Amino acid sequence: MITSKEKLRFGIIGCGRIAPKHAESIIAIPEAELVAVCDIISEKAERFAHLYNADPYLDYKELLQREDIDIVTIATPSGIHAEIGIEAAKAGKHVMVEKPMAMTLKQADYLIKACQEYNVKLSVIHQNRYNKSIKILREAMEKGRFGKLTHGQATIRWNRNEDYYIQAPWRGTKLQDGGVLMNQSIHNIDLLQWMMGPVESVFGYTTTALRQIEMEDVAGAVIRFKNGAIGLIEAATTIYPKNIEETLNIFGETGSVVIGGIAVNRVEVWEFPESEGEKNQIFSAQESDPPTVYGFGHREIIEDMIKSVKSNTSPPINGEEGRKALEIILAIYKSQESGLPVKLPLLDDFAD
Ligand SMILES: NC(=O)c1ccc[n+]([C@@H]2O[C@H](COP(=O)([O-])OP(=O)(O)OC[C@H]3O[C@@H](n4cnc5c(N)ncnc54)[C@H](O)[C@@H]3O)[C@@H](O)[C@H]2O)c1
Repeated sequence: MITSKEKLRFGIIGCGRIAPKHAESIIAIPEAELVAVCDIISEKAERFAHLYNADPYLDYKELLQREDIDIVTIATPSGIHAEIGIEAAKAGKHVMVEKPMAMTLKQADYLIKACQEYNVKLSVIHQNRYNKSIKILREAMEKGRFGKLTHGQATIRWNRNEDYYIQAPWRGTKLQDGGVLMNQSIHNIDLLQWMMGPVESVFGYTTTALRQIEMEDVAGAVIRFKNGAIGLIEAATTIYPKNIEETLNIFGETGSVVIGGIAVNRVEVWEFPESEGEKNQIFSAQESDPPTVYGFGHREIIEDMIKSVKSNTSPPINGEEGRKALEIILAIYKSQESGLPVKLPLLDDFAD
């Protein structure tokens, strides 16, 4: 039993591009300590361990054997998230897993089940839910300020050049990564469904327009939500010459909100009845664009996981929450294959 004052000890598995966000957040949290890191490439594990004063491992199963680790963060290629997460649960470690939590619903469900069975917490990293702008949007939604929701749009216009895919050959592959929907747009799709509610059906097209990858670099999709509202998704990593925007638009009978910026970080439109005073306050306290599209949310999501472990409650973005955007994306892939709209929940034959 962990006491409320005790520090929780972390291990990070996968020391690549996103891992420093985790390491720096853990180090900055007084109730957390980074004790071990793992990468199959020894120079990466060594360098990372040295940088953050932790012990290096080459085999994640050895890291999992350490009794003093409470929480592991999985930041490896996405295709092995579920496998590592299940092993971590079996070893009694709480699991924080980068998005997407898995590549298929079957893998996601095995991971959720393993965490339940071994009584550990599972948190999926959708750090954009912690953006200041997104928090106030969610609050407005919970207060019912939009009235009847009419439609919403998630747009991502980013550039991931050929070098990005060459640097890490798992990127853009079907089994390990997926395309722009599964890798980049998943955060925005998560936000769209978080605001608009459960999905009834999805229709979409994907294409590999410019990059030399197996999966899509451009996608467009339409969602019918159960409340009758419409959702639109536009996603591209082909934008010339650099990232332009990640934007979430939400519209209702008595509300219009557009959150833009480079990574859904800036309120661009905020319209509700009698919102003039509040608007001035929101616009004057805007966050500037973050230095990277990863934003500032990793620290808070880790802090929430620590709270969940200490109080034995569910993390806000648990396995079931993380599964929702994954299901929408798999439905778009299925629609691209069949040329037809796809109803949710996805049937087992596509859940593999
Ligand atoms: N939350 C976000 O905004 C965000 C941003 C970027 C990436 N991600 C996610 O984080 C994950 C990693 O992405 P990245 O861009 O950092 O990738 P990366 O290729 O830069 O890093 C992955 C690392 O994992 C290591 N690795 C591979 N197999 C391993 C294993 N079995 N055990 C230990 N280490 C192993 C690789 O050697 C590599 O160093 C992906 O799932 C990605 O979708 C999330």
